[in-house]
Amino acid sequence: MTRLKAEREITDMIENIEEKFLMESAPGAVTTFNGKEYSYFGGTSYYELHKNEQVINSAIAALKKYGITSSSSRSSYGTTQLLLDVEQEAAQYFNCEDAVYLASGFLTDMAAVQAFINKNMFDIVFIDEISHYSNDYASKLSGKPVYKFSHLDYNDLETKIAKYLPPNKKPLIISDGIFPIHGRIAPADKYAAIANKYNGLVWLDEAHALGIIGEKGRGTFEHFGMQSTNLFFGGTFSKAFGGFGGIIPGEKSFIKEIRNNQIQSGATPVPSAAAAASLTGMRLLKSNPQFRIKLWENAKRLKAGLRQLGIEADETHVPIAAWTMKSKSEMEKLQKELLKKNIVIQFIQYVGAGDSGALRIVVFSTHTAEQIDNLISELKRII
Ligand SMILES: Cc1ncc(COP(=O)(O)O)c(C=O)c1O
Repeated sequence: MTRLKAEREITDMIENIEEKFLMESAPGAVTTFNGKEYSYFGGTSYYELHKNEQVINSAIAALKKYGITSSSSRSSYGTTQLLLDVEQEAAQYFNCEDAVYLASGFLTDMAAVQAFINKNMFDIVFIDEISHYSNDYASKLSGKPVYKFSHLDYNDLETKIAKYLPPNKKPLIISDGIFPIHGRIAPADKYAAIANKYNGLVWLDEAHALGIIGEKGRGTFEHFGMQSTNLFFGGTFSKAFGGFGGIIPGEKSFIKEIRNNQIQSGATPVPSAAAAASLTGMRLLKSNPQFRIKLWENAKRLKAGLRQLGIEADETHVPIAAWTMKSKSEMEKLQKELLKKNIVIQFIQYVGAGDSGALRIVVFSTHTAEQIDNLISELKRII
């Protein structure tokens, strides 16, 4: 291919990012799209475990031993020692009595809410207005009344509970632990206090928090130093852990309820390679706390750099930052300018990104200081 033609193709590709931008390597600090390497700030493989050699070797060994899947649900003959090992490791990792491994993170919210219904644990849902699609679905499918409260606003939550919760009824407070777009942490300590006051419970979707925040990477409740029988959470292995599938750790009787419910008992379990990857990913994160320290350092470096440019970025060590500009076209233009410098960030239209979308940057533990500084200096040049 002539150089001119190649350049034209890349320009076309940049013009039509969604259609033509194909990932051709594992996600990482450097990721290949359409034959070209980019400094990648667009994904959720926070520790690059999706391409870690130990993770991949364990996935290959599991594939050879178990085949693609057990081809039968857990309620039939589909349980393998590997799936049990994932659940046992997760129970230990999250310091809970038990854990259940589901086919996806998306399903964890529905499975948990279904279990709360079966155990008659709540009457009315109060959900953060921009909680993830999976939490939104779960609350709608509950068949119970659902009220939205303003994003992160525990005062509004309490006002709505006082207004809409009839006497002797119990609220279920639903939120993301870390919100995917801006990386904000839910005030779970405040939600827990409100749940206690009204004899209710809290459910957090921890897809972006597990393996990331908390002293041992156990997520938002650990971040706030909380553990209680009315606090529940679930997450995914597909982000920090380099694997795939959903996980709900918790107390034995609650986990048993989920194991027996239709979402879990009527589905083929996670494929063996993904299960082995999740298991190895958890073990690696547990035995290498320095991964998390590096991630937190990178998050601080990125956010400090953004603040110097006048972009709002909080002081937490969550590795996600996002902001909006005047118009969608301005944001798309900035994204494309960075692509020309071989840097990928996201322009994203997603729940929580607002009507015209947002620019979003995610940093990994494996990004070098030079990569982060280069991103900041390119942003400075463009903005
Ligand atoms: C907050 C949140 N919950 C749930 C999910 C779904 O998880 P999974 O991709 O494992 O189905 C995502 C995925 O992006 C997410 O961001």
